[in-house]
Order: sequence, then structure tokens, then C-alpha cells
Amino acid sequence: MDIDVVYLLCLGLCLCYGGEEENEELPRPSISAWPSSVVKCKSNVTLRCWTHFQNVTVTLGKLHNSGYQQELRSAGKEAEFHLTNLQPEDAGGYFCAYRTATSHRWSGQSQHLQLVVTDGVGGGGGDPPRPSNSKLIFLATFSCLCISLLFVSIFFIYRRTQQVTLNDHVCKYEHEAGWGE
Ligand SMILES: *[C@@H]1O[C@H](CO)[C@@H](O)[C@H](O)[C@H]1NC(C)=O
Ligand SMILES: *[C@@H]1O[C@H](CO)[C@@H](O)[C@H](O)[C@H]1NC(C)=O
Repeated sequence: MDIDVVYLLCLGLCLCYGGEEENEELPRPSISAWPSSVVKCKSNVTLRCWTHFQNVTVTLGKLHNSGYQQELRSAGKEAEFHLTNLQPEDAGGYFCAYRTATSHRWSGQSQHLQLVVTDGVGGGGGDPPRPSNSKLIFLATFSCLCISLLFVSIFFIYRRTQQVTLNDHVCKYEHEAGWGE
């Protein structure tokens, strides 16, 4: 019972402390990709940022790229950023944040959305691993075959050399026998 109380107290303190540390009046927005976060090269994607308030300024940022920023005003609770003609360098982590007309500070960042740009015509995210998998199987089979072939050839070479030395011996004996008579 005591332990439970201490645990709850601790949890409460931690939560309070965490909240204070962030010092956020605005709840974090959430981000999603439409139609998918895995998109083909040269296609388009829409990143939607859902904010808890209407009439806000929304910014879209990219991880490891502080120079990247898009900003727009949204009348509703949802802001849409249209990314078109996607290139491989557009892949990466995206996040959004917002600011209401009255707040001077930005909200905390949304979770990071990982955008994947595939270069294949097939497109699907599950496609790329499959070829590498079959490649691996092919490589394994090929090496197995090579190793067995090596063993077989070693065996044959060994047998042939044995036969040759045996024949040599026979010849020698015959020779010696011939000389003897
Ligand atoms: C992407 O968007 C551009 C401009 O909005 C449009 O011209 C193009 O057809 C779109 N491409 C695809 C694959 O939807
Ligand atoms: C949005 O903000 C503008 C001023 O920035 C204001 O004129 C307008 O009434 C606001 N709209 C809503 C729905 O709050």
C-alpha cells in the first residue's frame, strides 16, 4: 500500500515536472501523410498538420535541415502542405508546429513523420526488401554449390594422383621385374 502511494506520488511529480520543463501552453499538433508516407519518386504527397485550435499559423520543418521551412495560415484545425514532384532528397523526418493569433510562442513540435521516397516504378514499400532477399538466397545457394564443387574436384584430383602414383609403382615393379630376368 505504502509503495503504491509512493509510486503514484513519484509518477505525479514526474508528470508535473515533465510538463513544466516543456513549458507549453499549446498542446502538440499531430502530423500525417496522405495518401502514404511511402511515396514514389516524382509523385506528390500531402502532409497534414492537425492543430487543436482554429485560425493558427502552422509551420512545417524538416529534421537535420534547419533551412527548410514552410509556413501557412489555417482557418480550420487542419493545415495541408502539398509537396510535389518528390525527389530522393525530400525523404526524411518532417514535423509541424503552430502558433495562435494570441500566443507569441510556438507550440511544441509534432511527432516526426518519416517520409520515404522510393525510386522504383513498382512503388510499394514492401518491394525493395524482396529482391535483396532473393539475392541473398541466390548467393547462399551459389556459394553452397561452389563449395560442393570444390570438394568434388578435390576428391577427384586426390583420386587421380593416387592412381598415378599407384600406376607408377606398378610400372616400377614391372620394370624391376623385367630387369631381374
Ligand atoms: C503532382 O502535382 C502537380 C501540381 O499540382 C501536378 O501537375 C501533377 O500531375 C501531380 N502528379 C501526380 C503524380 O499526381
Ligand atoms: C481568425 O483570425 C482573424 C485575424 O487574424 C480574425 O479576423 C478572424 O475572425 C479569425 N477567425 C476565426 C474563425 O476565429
